[in-house]
Amino acid sequence: MVDKINVVLIYGSVRDGRYCDTVAKWARTQIDAHKGFSLEIVDPAELTLPVKMTRNENGDLDQLKNRIGNADAFVIVTPEYNHGYPAALKHLIDSVYGEWQAKPVAFVSYGAASGGLRAVEQLRQVFAELHIASMRNTVSFANVWEQFDEHGRLYAPERPEKAMDMMLAQLHWWAAALKTAREQTPYDVIAN
Ligand SMILES: Cc1cc2nc3c(=O)[nH]c(=O)nc-3n(C[C@H](O)[C@H](O)[C@H](O)COP(=O)(O)O)c2cc1C
Repeated sequence: MVDKINVVLIYGSVRDGRYCDTVAKWARTQIDAHKGFSLEIVDPAELTLPVKMTRNENGDLDQLKNRIGNADAFVIVTPEYNHGYPAALKHLIDSVYGEWQAKPVAFVSYGAASGGLRAVEQLRQVFAELHIASMRNTVSFANVWEQFDEHGRLYAPERPEKAMDMMLAQLHWWAAALKTAREQTPYDVIAN
């Protein structure tokens, strides 16, 4: 019997007026409704994570490493910028290394025509390098501004809720399996 899975939801956008707040709020509600998770938020807009880091000044890096290290699973909420994912998200990902390993990640994406799916496919490549298992199923919102009303409620919630349920079920399965595996056999000795 595995305890609750610690899932960290990571915001992909740091843009002023970002739509990420609306989509992430919806995703948070869905995760909260799933009784198997306890949820933490990592928002790069609230972290001091300078691109140029010096030995003495690393901003919130230690805090970030602890939070990623304590997680069992991740949900990334990301938009698409120029057929990729935002630079702030890449910087956050690259700032941490071993703490990501042997854990699963799932994606909620949004954007214009593609619903952020091109950003997700790029993220799969990046996370493979970090020994992370990415979930096959995704949740995506095309033309995101047409999907939510001014209170952040979906006009047509049924399909995205069903998609999120399935994706979270997969995330929970992998997170529980990998948590047990990490406890039985440390992964870092074979990670290089
Ligand atoms: C710099 C920039 C580039 C964008 N490029 C794309 C794109 O390639 N494909 C797409 O579907 N949407 C694109 N968009 C639209 C965004 O996905 C949409 O505006 C989304 O709301 C941005 O997320 P945010 O509001 O949380 O920052 C772009 C937006 C910006 C600001």
